[in-house]
Amino acid sequence: MCGIAGYIGERNAPGILFDMLKKLEYRGYDSAGVACFSGGKVIVSRGKGKVDEVRKKSRITEIKSTVGIAHTRWATHGEPSDENSHPHSDCTGQFTVCHNGIVENYKEIRVELSNRGHKFLSQTDTEVIPHLIEELYSGDFETAFVSMLKKLKGSFALVAVDSNSPDRILVARKESPLIIGVGKGENFIASDTPAVLADTKKVIILEDMEYGIVKKDGVLIKRLDTGIPVDKEVHDIKWDVKAAEKDGYDHYMLKEIFEEPAAVKNALRGLENITATAKKLSKYERIYIVACGTASYAGQVGRYVFERYGISAEVVIASEFRYSTINTVDKKCAVIAVSQSGETADTLASVKEAKNRGAYIISVVNAVGSSLTRMTDDNIYTYSGPEIAVASTKAYVGQATTLTLLALSVAKEKGKITEAYQNEILDDLYAMPDKINSILNSREKIKKLAAEQKDCKSFFYLGRRLNYPTALEGALKLKEISYIHAEAYPGGELKHGPLALLEKGVTVIAVCPNDDLKEKMESNMQEARARKATLLRVAEDGEFTVPVCDPVLSPILYVVPLHLFAYYLSTSKGIDPDKPRNLAKSVTVE
Ligand code: M6R
Repeated sequence: MCGIAGYIGERNAPGILFDMLKKLEYRGYDSAGVACFSGGKVIVSRGKGKVDEVRKKSRITEIKSTVGIAHTRWATHGEPSDENSHPHSDCTGQFTVCHNGIVENYKEIRVELSNRGHKFLSQTDTEVIPHLIEELYSGDFETAFVSMLKKLKGSFALVAVDSNSPDRILVARKESPLIIGVGKGENFIASDTPAVLADTKKVIILEDMEYGIVKKDGVLIKRLDTGIPVDKEVHDIKWDVKAAEKDGYDHYMLKEIFEEPAAVKNALRGLENITATAKKLSKYERIYIVACGTASYAGQVGRYVFERYGISAEVVIASEFRYSTINTVDKKCAVIAVSQSGETADTLASVKEAKNRGAYIISVVNAVGSSLTRMTDDNIYTYSGPEIAVASTKAYVGQATTLTLLALSVAKEKGKITEAYQNEILDDLYAMPDKINSILNSREKIKKLAAEQKDCKSFFYLGRRLNYPTALEGALKLKEISYIHAEAYPGGELKHGPLALLEKGVTVIAVCPNDDLKEKMESNMQEARARKATLLRVAEDGEFTVPVCDPVLSPILYVVPLHLFAYYLSTSKGIDPDKPRNLAKSVTVE
């Protein structure tokens, strides 16, 4: 996820563009840049760092320009660096582009263009775009732009300028958002509405496979496949800037829970890399999964999937691993470090030690270019986009999906499963975003359950096997943002102690997938009912209703109502779930 912006009008573009980027910084903040027309040329200023840092260093604010494009980045291809920052230009500097999304076929295009003499200066997928326009240009910017778009696979929101056409900015959209803010004698382009609200409340929303020509006094949108103009509605935005930054959601946490379908889809984008990494991983004798907090629960999901296919993997909390398990690590071991931020101190320290002992190190990480990604042998990105809320939600879903894919690939590599079986699970995974959406659509029911439970003082989450981590994750989320006591147990453990605490007034949340352990889970629930505890089930026919899915994928689906439940319970108690007391988003100290 990145933020892109554009301005064309009478006022000073560089300042306006930096202001717009500030409003989009929640979409990415590892580097930023602006490109503006000046003296018949397009001047580019960009660099690593947050928008304010880049603005401070940049001299582009001193030039007089009324047209420009800009970008704030969240790295996906190529680490955060000056060279990888947007905007990107072609060999001649005529065409300059900012992009949000992923060009899936960028490697092939890059090889082809390199063979034709194009010189690339970055590691990004985006850089192929201006070079493609250059290659396809024969006098008309729009024609070259459209021909370029037709060659791209993947997703994009794009703004592009041509130094020979200073009266226009070309825009396009496929799967990544893009809007146009309509002003008087000026127009704005942005990934999201907050960026334009200070200047206009009138907005055109681009749909997939539409492109447009934006001039200061007009906007023309066309269909990419036919070139036929589209009659676009101009929406009147009622949100204030603060609400708009969260896409209209009350909190980042809720917005991020609603991004869980996309988290699955984005994790699947890593499949090729996962398959390649699995080939290496399958050669190692022992696998350790090392992480903290929510990331460690995603690690547990991975462990159970490995075990399902007869492969052993051990999950160790990073703060324990570095002081104890480390003594068992040698070059026969592989360590999979799981982290959203890639900056968690204990995880980094564990990786450093394991590396010194010769282990093969893989990351499953969200933040490209983070410290973790520079210490590993191979990185698997979850591509979940920036996560702002302290309580991790979409990152967990991305990590659980990625680790499931990794375990499946290793199992396939070791001959433990057939290709047909792997494809069957993959098909179910591709259907997962729709299933998650159906849970999100039942949010009112979950909100009601949360309101009913808001005065409960103690929760017990139960799960077995693959969904024991789901129970752990549900309980942690509740603790973090509602400050209510919550514990998680494997269902079979209940009678070994915790049962003594169950009584009227305690709520038990049982995660019950439709699998071979269903009856065992039923008898655990019976134990809770008999002590008069309130029982809520996450099941196909539960109080938290979930769609049918293959049991191996149930952790990815069954956690969604628990994230929503924790969120609504927190807000029903008047707590701000985005800023839980005593907690930081990244724990960068021991
Ligand atoms: O950035 P990381 O994934 O390494 O962070 C690990 C934990 O600190 C994190 O998951 C924490 O437990 C969250 N607050 C959970 O919601």
